[in-house]
Amino acid sequence: MAEDLKIKEGTKAEQYAALLPQIKGLLEGEPDQIANMGNTVAALKEQFGWLWVGFYIVKNSELVLGPFQGPVACTRIRKGKGVCGTAWAEKRTLIVPDVENFPGHIACSSLSKSEIVVPLIRESEVWAVLDIDSDRLDAFNDTDKEFLEQITCLLD
Ligand code: SME
Repeated sequence: MAEDLKIKEGTKAEQYAALLPQIKGLLEGEPDQIANMGNTVAALKEQFGWLWVGFYIVKNSELVLGPFQGPVACTRIRKGKGVCGTAWAEKRTLIVPDVENFPGHIACSSLSKSEIVVPLIRESEVWAVLDIDSDRLDAFNDTDKEFLEQITCLLD
């Protein structure tokens, strides 16, 4: 078991590149999705120190709050609503450099300034989304998109 996942040094891409195999190792052999989501958010939050890292899971046509780390958050999001519901509806990763400029953004914490949402897709359907909030503007870019999409693939 990896007791110290933290990789302190390096560019963002280097940190992700080092973290990815560690997360893979953490999830290997464990079929329980909630356990795996829990360790994935813990590893990401520990490494990057973002404000909020968590999953919303599609249940009965809504996104319902799943494993997360950070401040308490809204529990249910409808399709097409907020950044999460839009990423679900559009089946694509959304990067929001300034949440105040995203129409319909759902503010779970007033500290959140930028956000990335990655949909998890199985057989062409979104079954969950990974949502990450930062307390800094413009915290996410294509490097995050590329690696977070790889990380979410590990959960399939
Ligand atoms: N901001 C999200 C809601 C979830 S919280 O950020 C944890 C949204 O607009 O969908």
